Amino acid sequence: MIKINAVFFLIGQFIFLPLFLYTTRKAFKPKMTFLGYIGYILISPMAVYIISILLYSIVWAAFGHKYPVLYNLSLFSDVYALLISFIFAFIYAQTCKAEYRSFVMFVYICFYMIGMVFSITYNDVITSFICSAVAPAVTGILMFPFFIRPVISISNAADRFRWQMLILPITAEALLVLRFFINILSQSSPIMKSYDWFFQIYTTLFGYIILVCLFGCIWVTTKDIQQIEIIEDENEKNNRLTLDMLTALVGTIEAKDQYTNGHSNRVANYSKQLAEKLGYSESGAENIYRIALLHDIGKIAIPDYILKKDGMLTKREYETIRSHPLKGAEILKEIQEFPDLYLGALYHHERWDGKGYPYGIKGDEIPEVASIISVADAYDAMTSERSYRAAFTTKKARREIEKGSGTQFSPDVSKVMLDIIDEFSYLEDSK
Ligand SMILES: [Fe+2]
Repeated sequence: MIKINAVFFLIGQFIFLPLFLYTTRKAFKPKMTFLGYIGYILISPMAVYIISILLYSIVWAAFGHKYPVLYNLSLFSDVYALLISFIFAFIYAQTCKAEYRSFVMFVYICFYMIGMVFSITYNDVITSFICSAVAPAVTGILMFPFFIRPVISISNAADRFRWQMLILPITAEALLVLRFFINILSQSSPIMKSYDWFFQIYTTLFGYIILVCLFGCIWVTTKDIQQIEIIEDENEKNNRLTLDMLTALVGTIEAKDQYTNGHSNRVANYSKQLAEKLGYSESGAENIYRIALLHDIGKIAIPDYILKKDGMLTKREYETIRSHPLKGAEILKEIQEFPDLYLGALYHHERWDGKGYPYGIKGDEIPEVASIISVADAYDAMTSERSYRAAFTTKKARREIEKGSGTQFSPDVSKVMLDIIDEFSYLEDSK
């Protein structure tokens, strides 16, 4: 008899497990490994009761014969489970980004509360079957469209607090109230009757504790989300401002030389594409875009007559032009908010074989961002018209990049550049 009831209890508890895993995956773990699933099952709100019962059984088996008072402590199983659920919720929250932790803890506690409603064990099989297995199954089916889906859509939109989020605690609280009434109804059993006073106080107090915890969760989550929104707005404004300033700065170089018109922007775009294909994150590629945009900033310090000179440059003029990486780095090192900004300016004329300038460093000694900009810079220079020559065709520029791989350019970066050129030519041909 007890065994069948225990099975119903387990079924009821684990009915919510797929919903919990689905929410977790959708909300913050799109790529979940097999071990990840196992880990989340072990710390799930559904495993909390099983684990707290197991722990209590171990303690009882070890010390029960010595201290019969332990039996009375078993009446507080809800309290142990609640404590374990807080520990698990904390571990669960550590697996996602810091800014979303309060949100996922909130989701976890709500799930726990919903599972808790069905954690009462009943003496007769039919009540057990209906209350422990059928009721959670029906709740689970109803929860998906009305509860899980809105929560997932909220978390997808970068965890914003929406009024739909209140569905979670309200559902949980309503189910708890239901549990309270079921408790009162089950007072007809003689065992329950003898503990009548205890259950009255215990259930009321427990309900209050849960309510306080829940509203604490809502308060913290709301505050955190408001904070995230403010920070994101500020960041966006700052990023826009920075990019506007950098573009204005680039405009000053481009204004000096008509042949470089749009060059910095194009190099920045190619560099970003290369970075993305090389596996950089979105923010990493964005950073490379900024660095590349300013790679020729040192040209500001080069006199106009040298930059615009049509004929042959004298040795001295040539040396002056070659000083632009150092001049650029000097300017950009002043911008302390972006400590990497100078890397592109300083090293974009270094060559893979060490024959570049200003330092003649080679291979991996050159920062990768500079190797990327070097290829993008060369490709754009080749495919743009100059005062002394016409623009290369895409085919010819491709051949040059291929030829320069391993000598002028990083083999990895030039390989990716060739792919980009091929994609580009394919699109051009199919037009
Ligand atoms: Fe340059």
